[in-house]
Amino acid sequence: MTRNHSVGSKPMTSAGISSALGESAAATKDPRAFLTEAVRLLERERAHFNWVGIYLLEGDTLVLGPFVGKPTDHVRIPLGRGICGAAASAGKTVIVDDVNADPRYLACSLETRAEIVVPIIRDGKVLGEIDIDSDTPAAFTDDDRLLLEGVAEILAAKL
Ligand code: SME
Repeated sequence: MTRNHSVGSKPMTSAGISSALGESAAATKDPRAFLTEAVRLLERERAHFNWVGIYLLEGDTLVLGPFVGKPTDHVRIPLGRGICGAAASAGKTVIVDDVNADPRYLACSLETRAEIVVPIIRDGKVLGEIDIDSDTPAAFTDDDRLLLEGVAEILAAKL
């Protein structure tokens, strides 16, 4: 796979990412293959997205689906635990600028400094979430939130 950020070419705009995913949603029959494509695209196009994964809600447990980055111990997270659990329970995006200062944080990698978790919601129901870790402190901006909330809507329609 091409890794644009590692060769210094210009990253896609948020609109470009959304439109690429919209097209791929229409063209890809298997929802899981589509989720895999989405995490790969996000990781490739944003240099500060160091770990990108999707958790799907099964009962009251978040179960790790496709991801890019180091393997994590947290493949099943109860709704009451972690930043992941907090975002899914509230049905709202959570941005943590300094994971080491947040008592909810479940550590995956020692390098991680910041995290964003964006719920995937359809008809008011949380289906899962996009979870992204960054090795850069306070890495996530309002632009990232807008991009990922848009991506979450595209994913929700496909799940
Ligand atoms: N940090 C998350 C756990 C998942 S890992 O980031 C992959 C949390 O606190 O819920």
